Amino acid sequence: MPTALLSQLYPQHLATLQHQAGIALERGGYDHLLIAAGQLHYQFLDDLPYPFQVNPHFKHWLPVTRAPGSWLVITPGQRPRLIYLQPYDYWHVVPEAPAGYWVEHFDIVIVREAREAAGHLPPDSKRCAIIGEASAGIDTHVPNNPEAVLNYLHFQRAWKTEYELAMMRVASHLGARAHRAAEAAFRAGASEYGIQMAYLAAARETENELPYSNIVCLNEHGAVLHYTNLERNPPLQSHSLLIDAGASFHGYAADITRTYAGAQAAEFQQLVDAVDAAQRGFCARVRPGQSYPELHVHAHHVLAGILREHGFIRMSAESAVESGVSSVFFPHGLGHYIGLQVHDIGGFQQSDAGGTLPRPAGHPYLRLTRTIEANQVMTIEPGLYFIDLLLAELRNRPEAGDVNWDKVDAFRRYGGIRIEDDVACTADAPENLTRDAFAALN
Ligand code: GLY
Ligand code: MN
Ligand code: MN
Repeated sequence: MPTALLSQLYPQHLATLQHQAGIALERGGYDHLLIAAGQLHYQFLDDLPYPFQVNPHFKHWLPVTRAPGSWLVITPGQRPRLIYLQPYDYWHVVPEAPAGYWVEHFDIVIVREAREAAGHLPPDSKRCAIIGEASAGIDTHVPNNPEAVLNYLHFQRAWKTEYELAMMRVASHLGARAHRAAEAAFRAGASEYGIQMAYLAAARETENELPYSNIVCLNEHGAVLHYTNLERNPPLQSHSLLIDAGASFHGYAADITRTYAGAQAAEFQQLVDAVDAAQRGFCARVRPGQSYPELHVHAHHVLAGILREHGFIRMSAESAVESGVSSVFFPHGLGHYIGLQVHDIGGFQQSDAGGTLPRPAGHPYLRLTRTIEANQVMTIEPGLYFIDLLLAELRNRPEAGDVNWDKVDAFRRYGGIRIEDDVACTADAPENLTRDAFAALN
């Protein structure tokens, strides 16, 4: 990503956040918005910290993800202030001196100890909305996370600025490049661990920098939705690879899943192709005004149709959905918002004042129940799986007689299929960040 482009886009992004902060403060009746970056957390009985995860509110304002002990102060009508902790420390690498296109927009104060921040925060903490985890506070300023302020900001999080979209395109590019390397490692017979190593090398990210733990599944491991074991040895034969692996850029996430059939698995390739075609159809429906839960239910009907066409079930797609049989094979949600967090916040929110939009009955794992609007980014990640636990339950239900168990059993060795793209809604045709990133590699 050329820095010039980011520097052009950043002022508008900052103006949008300042505008939103002003309204959020009015809603809560506060004068200042304080955002605590967070603190290191230490392992029990040890002096080793867990990897630092910055408060997403903090990295919304500036592309800084390693800043434990730092603070932002937003006061309407004033330049935002960054209180930046740069300790004197010869044991660890201290956070770099602030640099880059964003620096000129902030008043920056360097402090050397966390408690020094108090001298640079607004003195009357009662007038401050303080956002952060409890442990990020200092004696004088303790996070209060006012609901009215957070409701407003979390609802707005769904809409990305041009600057954020630019960040997410880069994250997608890094992820797509690494997925290509992972596929090549799979074709060469690598283990799950070997595929992960190839992925990380191509992404040029450490595991701690990824937005989530990669899910790298050979064969039947694909049936464990969040499998993260990374088997060190390859199986005797690799029938399939399901890889759900992301990348980060300045704190923005990509979340990408691809499923590949092994060389001897033509029957599985046909099913992968069918899910892939269906997934493209769902992506095409990412349009303003589309209800996301309705899209999720539509996906159930299409996937049930695939199960029928491919001879897994004999009942109609409609009855497969109505009876819950489609949920045996597709037991998770169609997707979620994505951005600063891989599962970005606000997916159930009814309005900027709060409230909850319930999930449709029978779909307990859907993470997004809002209506899609332009400039929102979400994943579209349908799947079909052969999960022993859920299949065992189905065998005891009346619908079991309408299932071709021989065919189902024959596919257990492939685990499952998931195809996941990150899609930005626009006023017009959707922008598929993931497919565009793969296409740019060709
Ligand atoms: N990688 C987790 C998810 O797809 O939501
Ligand atoms: Mn996802
Ligand atoms: Mn994923």
